[in-house]
Amino acid sequence: MKILMVCLGNICRSPLAEGILRNKISNMKITIDSAGTAGYHIGSKPDIRAIDIAKKNNIDISNLRARKFELSDFTNFDKIYVMDKNNFNDIIDLAENKEEASKVFLITDVLDSDSFVPDPYYGDINDFEKVFNLLEKICQKIANKIASR
Ligand code: 4NP
Repeated sequence: MKILMVCLGNICRSPLAEGILRNKISNMKITIDSAGTAGYHIGSKPDIRAIDIAKKNNIDISNLRARKFELSDFTNFDKIYVMDKNNFNDIIDLAENKEEASKVFLITDVLDSDSFVPDPYYGDINDFEKVFNLLEKICQKIANKIASR
């Protein structure tokens, strides 16, 4: 099973999702990666506020580096979880067939809620904390789903 987390910049939400889920399933044979729909921050570490909130929760994401989503990700991953509707539309637009499109999920759907993970980039540490707590809940559900396969 290979899972890709996707947001806009790959420096706030998707690296957090990657780190949180990896932390929960470290004993299983699952590949997790993350990417951005935009290339603004290619090669950058996660935003310092994302690194800090993860660290506060005993998760180290400081070694991650941003990359842009590429078409080969559709073949290399089984599930592509996006953080919001813009990410969803951007990735679906790149899908070349139904099979590729069928791999793309809005990550909040695992909570059966009609919601999204808000972009904290222009917010403050409280916004990062809210994003962390939401992704924590979501990734627990994903981990449970994987464990019960
Ligand atoms: P992310 O947050 O998509 O959660 O990584 C953002 C990071 C950077 C920008 C926007 C959102 N930006 O415009 O540079």
